[in-house]
Amino acid sequence: MALKKTEKIWMNGKLVDWDNANIHILSHVIHYGSSVFEGMRCYKNPKGSACFRLKEHMERLKNSAKIYRMEIKYTVEELCNAVLETIKVNKLESCYVRPIAYRGYGKMGVNPFNCPVDVSIAVWEWGKYLGEEGMEKGIDVCVSSWNRLAPNTMPAMSKAGGNYLNSQLIKMEALLNGYAEGIGLDVNGYVSECSGENLFIVLKGKIITPPLSNAGLPGITRDSVIKLAKDNGIELIEQPISRELLYICDELFLTGSAAEITPVRTVDKIQIGAGKRGPITKLLQEKFFDIVECRTEDKYNWLTYVK
Ligand SMILES: Cc1ncc(COP(=O)(O)O)c(C=O)c1O
Repeated sequence: MALKKTEKIWMNGKLVDWDNANIHILSHVIHYGSSVFEGMRCYKNPKGSACFRLKEHMERLKNSAKIYRMEIKYTVEELCNAVLETIKVNKLESCYVRPIAYRGYGKMGVNPFNCPVDVSIAVWEWGKYLGEEGMEKGIDVCVSSWNRLAPNTMPAMSKAGGNYLNSQLIKMEALLNGYAEGIGLDVNGYVSECSGENLFIVLKGKIITPPLSNAGLPGITRDSVIKLAKDNGIELIEQPISRELLYICDELFLTGSAAEITPVRTVDKIQIGAGKRGPITKLLQEKFFDIVECRTEDKYNWLTYVK
């Protein structure tokens, strides 16, 4: 999907024209993958435009940076305000938000300490990441031949640019083989997550998701789904999932800010459940969209309105 240009991109506190939002080719990030970033949605609903879990996203950005000893010179509150300002100035009602902190231009070499930590925030209109049809009918996925990150190599809890080289291998292999997405196993062969989504299965009325120790990103949609499931009386267990359980579960769905809650209808060409969105997936989608689209009270305080 081609990027839909907006007017301004926030760069280190200044609003820069979209076409001038450039960095130097010798910036550290370009050579060594030294960035941490966020992906978040702002939803239009009858009350206005609202960012979904803005504070949690900015807190995760700060934590991703902390793991890499990157000092972001803005507080969580300042980052939240900058996001709201960027959405407002671009006059978007609903959009995807991409804050990124990166090692900029300074000295070359692996040592990142001599490069500044720059911050930028871009927003643009973005439709359903895994397709409109997929949200209802489910998508076809495969188990990747590429594993997710091994412990004590690349920290999976940091949403770091470099981690997405692994994601790209998983995604490209899946797409080239005709699948919408790939599931990565962890280094021990247990299910981890997809290239850009966490994963849940439904088995005999209970929901199971891998613990974060299986090389998963602490997804904010994952956390939201866990809360929604528990509050709707559905038992939710975090436990390691073997590959073969993917094939025999009743429902399978993926969560992410871009993918929201996307059902899966086949894994490796094996039909999951009835081969379409299952009832628990549908219920959770409804509960999620009821909140972001303001059909029900925002009892968890998940929405921050762009005033
Ligand atoms: C690798 C990976 N896992 C999981 C997720 C889901 O996280 P969230 O729900 O916070 O978007 C993402 C997306 O950010 C991701 O890139």
